[in-house]
Amino acid sequence: MAHVTLPREILPTDGRFGCGPSKVRGDQLASLVGPGSVLMGTSHRQAPIKSLVGEVRSGLSDLLRLPDGYEIIVGNGGSTAFWDAASFGLIEKRAQNLVFGEFGGKFAGAAAAPWLEAPDVRKAEPGSSIAAEPVEGVDVYAWPHNETSTGVATAITRVVGDEGALTVIDATSAAGGINFTVSESDVYYFAPQKNLGSDGGLWFAAVSPAAIERIERVAASGRYIPEFLSLKNALDNSRLNQTLNTPAVATLHLLDKQLEWINGNGGLAWAGARTAESSSALYEWADASSFATPFVADAADRSPVVVTIDFDETVDAAAVAKSLRANGIVDTEPYRKLGRNQLRIATFVSIEPEDVRQLIKCIDFTIDGLKG
Ligand SMILES: Cc1ncc(COP(=O)(O)O)c(C=O)c1O
Repeated sequence: MAHVTLPREILPTDGRFGCGPSKVRGDQLASLVGPGSVLMGTSHRQAPIKSLVGEVRSGLSDLLRLPDGYEIIVGNGGSTAFWDAASFGLIEKRAQNLVFGEFGGKFAGAAAAPWLEAPDVRKAEPGSSIAAEPVEGVDVYAWPHNETSTGVATAITRVVGDEGALTVIDATSAAGGINFTVSESDVYYFAPQKNLGSDGGLWFAAVSPAAIERIERVAASGRYIPEFLSLKNALDNSRLNQTLNTPAVATLHLLDKQLEWINGNGGLAWAGARTAESSSALYEWADASSFATPFVADAADRSPVVVTIDFDETVDAAAVAKSLRANGIVDTEPYRKLGRNQLRIATFVSIEPEDVRQLIKCIDFTIDGLKG
């Protein structure tokens, strides 16, 4: 099918609206090939890279306003590796997993490990959310802060269950873009390829004193834990500003620059206001439109960083995404397994609110053009 050519004056300055990997700002990339270039190709066991890891840990501590006793730990393998690490080294007996999309479901899968009791899985339909409920015998309560596959964001409130039970939050697509109170969680973990404007392959976690105690206790319990997936290993190495095995240095540098940028502009409060501005423009447009509707019915569940818009039968969303792509506006396709007539648009903090307003004009123009 022929695509619609968009007039230059309505094009966004940057066409990257994907939910991960997502837009990396030009200043970060310029810094990587400028001052950052002397770090590339140097040993991760020497001072320059160790101080880079230290800077990233302290930048994240500032961003998340870590209370005393909380620490930032880091490991290789992205958030997916963290799920397995948590099933080996964080869940003592049984987790409660809230599942309302793909990523919550993946952690529930990892928590169904043979050495643990079967997880208490609480499901809600994609596009909605569900709250945790204290249950005797559960020692980890887990859910995503932002379910990237559906565009649902949740409240972060500590679950008061059995003594010592931990609240464990997947913040992969929320961290750095949604304001919240970190002391409401014990483990707030994420990979840096979304709001944090970096590349994939690493995981980070803000861990509470209770979580540190749990990590140490499970590690000392005699349970078999592979070295690569050992949280105790990650904790010990992180305190030395290093990782067990070689990290991606470019990822660390890009993250460091993004943290400087967000923290320098006012931190999470600033970032949260900026993503709210961008996402509101899209939700308001869809609410007012005759052919588009926000997929997430309850406005309280709507994500400020991942906006999902359904279209009626007069619009072929896949054709719209394809046509936008031909104009350099990329990755607006919906999550592949959701199977809806939908566009999914990231409004991460790096994305200019003005570019989101331009994108709306581009979507309208494309729909008109495809109909015409
Ligand atoms: C909420 C959420 N959790 C986990 C992941 C997996 O992250 P990674 O690819 O770093 O393993 C993603 C990736 O999109 C995600 O959005």
